[in-house]
Amino acid sequence: MGLQPPIHLFLVCFPAQGHINPMLRLAKRLAAKGLLITFSTTEHAGKDIRQANNIIDDQLTPVGNGFIRFEFFEDDCIEDDPKRRDLDFYVPQLELKGKEFLPETIKRHEKEGRPVFCFVNNPFIPWVCDVAEDLGIPCATLWIQSCAVFSCYYHYFHKTVPFPSELDPSVDVQLPNLPLLEYDEIPSFLHPSSPYKILGTAILGQFKNLSKSFCVLADTFDELEHEIIEGMSKFCKVKTVGPLFKNPKASVSNIRGDMLKADDCLDWLDSKSPGSVVYISFGTIAYIKQEQVEEIAYGLLNSGVSFLWVMKPPDVAFGYDLHVLPDGFMEKIGTRGKIVQWCPQEQVLAHPSVACFLTHCGWNSTVEALTSGVPVLAYPQWGDQVTNAKFLVDVYGVGVRLCRGEAENKVIPRDVIGKALVEATVGKRAVELKENATRWKKAAEEAVAEGGSSDRNIQDFVEEIRKRSGLYNSKPAAT
Ligand code: UDX
Repeated sequence: MGLQPPIHLFLVCFPAQGHINPMLRLAKRLAAKGLLITFSTTEHAGKDIRQANNIIDDQLTPVGNGFIRFEFFEDDCIEDDPKRRDLDFYVPQLELKGKEFLPETIKRHEKEGRPVFCFVNNPFIPWVCDVAEDLGIPCATLWIQSCAVFSCYYHYFHKTVPFPSELDPSVDVQLPNLPLLEYDEIPSFLHPSSPYKILGTAILGQFKNLSKSFCVLADTFDELEHEIIEGMSKFCKVKTVGPLFKNPKASVSNIRGDMLKADDCLDWLDSKSPGSVVYISFGTIAYIKQEQVEEIAYGLLNSGVSFLWVMKPPDVAFGYDLHVLPDGFMEKIGTRGKIVQWCPQEQVLAHPSVACFLTHCGWNSTVEALTSGVPVLAYPQWGDQVTNAKFLVDVYGVGVRLCRGEAENKVIPRDVIGKALVEATVGKRAVELKENATRWKKAAEEAVAEGGSSDRNIQDFVEEIRKRSGLYNSKPAAT
């Protein structure tokens, strides 16, 4: 161990893929700048991450000038406990167990010579800020969605403008620096008819605790949401650090947080001609109706396009059935299509054979597509996805909208899908979408390059932690 302790940050992450990816990407960025990062989430998620990525707990993995280590905590549910899917039970359970784990662990680290100087949490676990305050340790928050969505939650929480209510569920929402959002384009957890109220409450908990985070790091970039970010900066310290997946120094580490092992598909993509493949994935939680899967399958069959389709096995604990493709589908498709359970999405989107992305518009997928220069077919379901779809289509100009969200309760027929597939891949509209996407790709590359807006914000954040820790020249020790 060196003379000074390492500057040690403790990142606490909600146990879901869409949260783990951006948090781990942030971990890599910060470690690369010379910090020691502990990445922590539940043991249940940790088990999958370990299996898919050969991660060994408590082992220091060098990343650039720093290190990452993993430390998982028990949520006290039994193996494959369906209660984990009952969010009314699980969100408070996680808080209970996390609040026991964190103080003990922080004390242990101090005894072992690597005191924690700062926490970082992400949405759904705002109690991390309370623990940090009790321990007298600074806390920052990683916002893993767009700044437009951040603004929606902020203004809803502070009741600055009317939002849909039980009395008036169809009111449209006008927020500063945002286009008018129709009542079904606000993050759906805020809608009075949302079946996922607990998630809305958990996110709003972050806004209640906002003053406890000395800064909000957002996985977006200034050029993408300039006015919204500027507007929100009047209310809190928002710093754009994204897109975090676009690491200009990717070679510094190949640590990944996948909860499933990726299937081979890059060789198959290599065999296809440039700009010819539609990539399809609906993320990790949204469940697409069986009838819709069939309509997509026929849309693909009839339109003649090539496709790579991620059919992640649905979570049985939610009571969802495995999707079934129409009889003889793969025989008819032949080598024109490939179905996998999980793929290395970042590499797929960067592949020259990919023409467009049929997506549920989760923020990670949104930002990964947009900044890889890939146009989208927007098939949002709930949460921020409906807002992201609006922006992809109407603001960023890179998408064709297929639906408005789960609340609409519609199955999009095969001919509409087929037509949209063609619209986004060939012809005048396809060229326009691609040109816009290519512009966003370039802007994102500039933001994360050395001296770009996001790179500067990461650097400022690291400087601030160094100052707060009083260990200005400390480098982490490898032992
Ligand atoms: C969830 C919510 O659905 C989303 O709205 C919110 O913004 C974040 O949390 P999720 O459904 O997991 O996200 O989708 P998304 O945000 O797109 O994240 C999925 C991640 O998994 C992406 O980083 C994507 O690259 C990765 N992925 C997905 C793979 O690596 N391989 C796959 O085959 C599919």
